[in-house]
Amino acid sequence: MAADARGAIVLSARSLSRDYPQGSERLAVLRGIDLDLAAGERVAVLGASGSGKSTLLHLLAGLDRPSAGHVTLAGVRLDELDVTGRVKLRNRSLGFVYQFHHLLMEFSALENVALPLVIAGVRQRRARREAERLLERVGLSRRRHARPAKLSGGERQRVAIARALATRPPVVLADEPTGNLDEETGAEVYALMLEINREFGTAFLIATHDAVIARGAGRVLRLDHGRLGPSPRDSA
Ligand SMILES: Nc1ncnc2c1ncn2[C@@H]1O[C@H](COP(=O)(O)OP(=O)(O)O)[C@@H](O)[C@H]1O
Ligand SMILES: [Mg+2]
Repeated sequence: MAADARGAIVLSARSLSRDYPQGSERLAVLRGIDLDLAAGERVAVLGASGSGKSTLLHLLAGLDRPSAGHVTLAGVRLDELDVTGRVKLRNRSLGFVYQFHHLLMEFSALENVALPLVIAGVRQRRARREAERLLERVGLSRRRHARPAKLSGGERQRVAIARALATRPPVVLADEPTGNLDEETGAEVYALMLEINREFGTAFLIATHDAVIARGAGRVLRLDHGRLGPSPRDSA
């Protein structure tokens, strides 16, 4: 990414709300969230379990629709696209890392990483070459032909990170990416995301309930009672 692209807003939310039916009532999970993520930025979203972190990330990725408000990704409003348009924009502009890897179990690590490129229309050979490069970057060259079942939890998350980066999107959203790992492995996976953030200039928004993880972020926000605000560390 060019240096002058830093500072541009790559993802934003305006008055974002989401509620779910609960009996005859509505459960308001998000209540008017505003967020701007700048190119190359690193933001942690802290929140207790059930505070709405996954709901927020799914809305930001266009995987779910808000009850009110809207999301703009790479300059395009998600609500103005049809399903195909959203899928295309997401493929190009956004990577997603889940708590439970979500890799395709029938595919090798290499095939999993190459898939977003193939979907983007890149030829097989080039997609595989690029996937090899990314797997090398996350330290998994030797394991590239292994299927996810043969990989450790930390290795699977490294593959998931490589996959999220495949199309070199400006934004990666990570939903408790270390939540399923032991402390040491989680710290390694998190450190890898920080390195990649610096090297590739990819903006990262990382949801976590772990305040220690959040310490490495450039900005820490807290999701509480459906609202997103600066965390005590940042507001001090
Ligand atoms: N599809 C759904 N239908 C109804 N309630 C939901 C749904 N998804 C999430 N919720 C509720 O929304 C709240 C926030 O959930 P979630 O976003 O998963 O929180 P977090 O990721 O912070 O743990 C929880 O109370 C959860 O039960
Ligand atoms: Mg969650």
